[in-house]
Amino acid sequence: KDQYAVYGNPVKHSKSPQIHAAFAEQTGQQLHYRARKIELEHFAEAATKFFSHGGKGLNITVPFKLDAFEFADQLSGRARRAGAVNTLALQEDGSVYGDNTDGIGLVRDIHSNLGWELSGRRILVLGAGGAVRGILGPLLKQRPAHVLVANRTVSKAQSLAKNFESLGHVAGCSYEGLTSGQFDLIINGTSASMRGDLPPLPHHILSNDGCAYDMMYGAEPTPFMRWAAGETAWAVSDGLGMLVEQAAESFCIWRGVRPDTKPVMDLVRQSLS
Ligand code: ATR
Repeated sequence: KDQYAVYGNPVKHSKSPQIHAAFAEQTGQQLHYRARKIELEHFAEAATKFFSHGGKGLNITVPFKLDAFEFADQLSGRARRAGAVNTLALQEDGSVYGDNTDGIGLVRDIHSNLGWELSGRRILVLGAGGAVRGILGPLLKQRPAHVLVANRTVSKAQSLAKNFESLGHVAGCSYEGLTSGQFDLIINGTSASMRGDLPPLPHHILSNDGCAYDMMYGAEPTPFMRWAAGETAWAVSDGLGMLVEQAAESFCIWRGVRPDTKPVMDLVRQSLS
C-alpha cells in the first residue's frame, strides 16, 4: 500500500489518520496513513528518510510547517505566499511538491458547508502565527471588504498583512486597536483556546448578523465560541470542518480524487464526544 503520514509534535491527538482512512475507504483507494511524532530538530532528516523509503505524501502540522516550506523542491503559489506548507507530495521525477491546503479548507467550510458569505464582508482575524499565514491568501481571494489581522504582538500582524497586501485590503493591529468598527465575521486563529484563554476583545465588535469561526475544535465549545455566543453572534462554528476540508484537498492532491467530506465530518464529530 502507498504510505502517507502526518508529522507533528505533539501529534498524538491528530484526527488525520482517521480522516484519511475514511476517505480511502469511501473512494476505494489503497493507502496507509499514520501519525508520527518528530523531534524538534529532526524534521528534514525524517522527511528525507520517509520519501527515500517510498513514502508518497506527508501532512505537516505544528510546529513544522515552516520546515516543510524549506524542505519542498517546488511550491504552489499559495504555499509560497503563506511561507508555510502543510502538504508534501512525491512527484514522478522524485522531487517533492509543497502546498498549503489550510486556507482553501477554511474557505470551503465557511462558504460551502456553513453557507456564510465572504465577499464584501468585513473580516477580523485573531492571531498572526503559523495557523493564520495559510488562510489570508484564500480569504482575500473571496473579495471581502477588508481583512484586519489583530495580534498580541502587533508587529507580527503588521508584517504578515504586508505580505498579502497585493491581494486585497488587509492590515494589522493590536487588540487595543479594536476600539471602533464592526465585523461581519471574526475568525480565531490564535492558540489561546488550547489553554482555555481568549484574546482581549471589546464588546460590540460583531455586527448584528455577524458570524464567529474558531479554527480550533473540541468536544466542547471553545472560550472564543462562548464569547461570540454571548455577543449574540448570528452563527458560531468551530474548526472541525476546516480540518476535514484541508485533509480532502490534500487527499485530492495525492490521489487525484475528491472525497465527500460530509460523512467524514460527522464521523470525526462523533469521535470527539
Ligand atoms: P500556530 O502555528 O498555532 O499559529 P504560533 O505561531 O505560536 O502557533 O501562533 C500562536 C498565535 O496565537 C499567535 O498569534 C499568538 O500571539 P503572539 O504572536 O502575540 O504570541 C497567539 N496567542 C497565543 N496565546 C494567546 C493568548 N493567550 N492571547 C492572545 N493571543 C495568543
